[in-house]
Amino acid sequence: MTKSNIFGNNFNTPAQEALPKGLDNIVAVQALFPLTRQFEMAGNPGENEIIGLVSKVGKDSMRIDAVWPVITNRIRAIPEYVELFKNSFDDIDNVFDIKITHIVNSIAAFQIHEWTSFDSPFDDYLNGDKNVLSSNQIKGMELFYGKANCSSCHSGSLLTNQKFYSLGIPQFGPGRTRSFDPYARDVGRMVETDDLNDMYKFKTPALRNVSLTAPYGHNGAYPTLEGIIKHHLNPKEMNKIWKPKLANLPKAKWLEDIDFVIFSDKREQERILSSIDIKPIKLSDKEIYYLVEFLKSLTGKSGNNRPLGKPNKVPSGLLID
Ligand code: HEC
Repeated sequence: MTKSNIFGNNFNTPAQEALPKGLDNIVAVQALFPLTRQFEMAGNPGENEIIGLVSKVGKDSMRIDAVWPVITNRIRAIPEYVELFKNSFDDIDNVFDIKITHIVNSIAAFQIHEWTSFDSPFDDYLNGDKNVLSSNQIKGMELFYGKANCSSCHSGSLLTNQKFYSLGIPQFGPGRTRSFDPYARDVGRMVETDDLNDMYKFKTPALRNVSLTAPYGHNGAYPTLEGIIKHHLNPKEMNKIWKPKLANLPKAKWLEDIDFVIFSDKREQERILSSIDIKPIKLSDKEIYYLVEFLKSLTGKSGNNRPLGKPNKVPSGLLID
């Protein structure tokens, strides 16, 4: 049995053996979980019946698959969604045929259709159109795959080797706090593996369309590409001079005190800084500029103009911002 198939359903997820059958792909599997997470979509205890049920998971033999039907019923209660589901799936004839698997398979189909992007100038260049990159972008590409060593982690067609590293990005906010931590802190990959060697490691992110997706780092610590690149080149120094205002958080008085507790905790800071896996590299400001120019060549032609785009309204009537 492979490690990823320990629950007999080919995926190693927090749902363990309760993962439903009939999920189309890993994107659909992923879509199941934000629905039931306090810090993502479920909200705070006491606010609604979904987080109420989630907080009981693990007690009295209650499993996470008890929560999904409650979410499914919310969709079933909206006639416009029922019609859309009937039109989209052959195996849905009436409202009770709609299952959580249809919901997350739809989300996955949307994400894959809307956000897969392989039409960047960099792709054209690799396909033989040598004039499509500017001379500065070519200099940046040579640094990326050469002296700057970026491609030792950001490799392959998505520009990630899918591995985990600690870069010592300044920490703030709730992150993925574990229930027994004394305050909000995010130990990264270790949340999943419980292996001390994985402390503060995060997955190398893909870089397609990266110039459209500021801010940068797993928590958005840097507002610019230049800032996050400089961090890679000298993480300890950059972590030390980082200022909370760079995070540019929306005003929320009741969170402000706790958001930066971790950043001002000397011992936690020492642990973070001693976990760093990347070697400092010296690059000139010009070279950093070339790298930024190269990263812009990873923007798909349709990057900002997606096939479906943002709807004006959704069947639930929830506000769109
Ligand atoms: C040791 C592996 C490694 C190397 C080498 C590396 N990176 Fe990264 N990169 C990462 C990881 C891991 C993150 C995410 C860190 C986090 O959020 O905690 C990251 C984040 C980024 C981001 C932010 C992306 C986003 O969406 O937030 C950019 C941009 C980036 N790297 C560009 C570069 C460039 C340019 C270089 C070369 C100068 C480089 N990286 C070298 C591992 C690496």
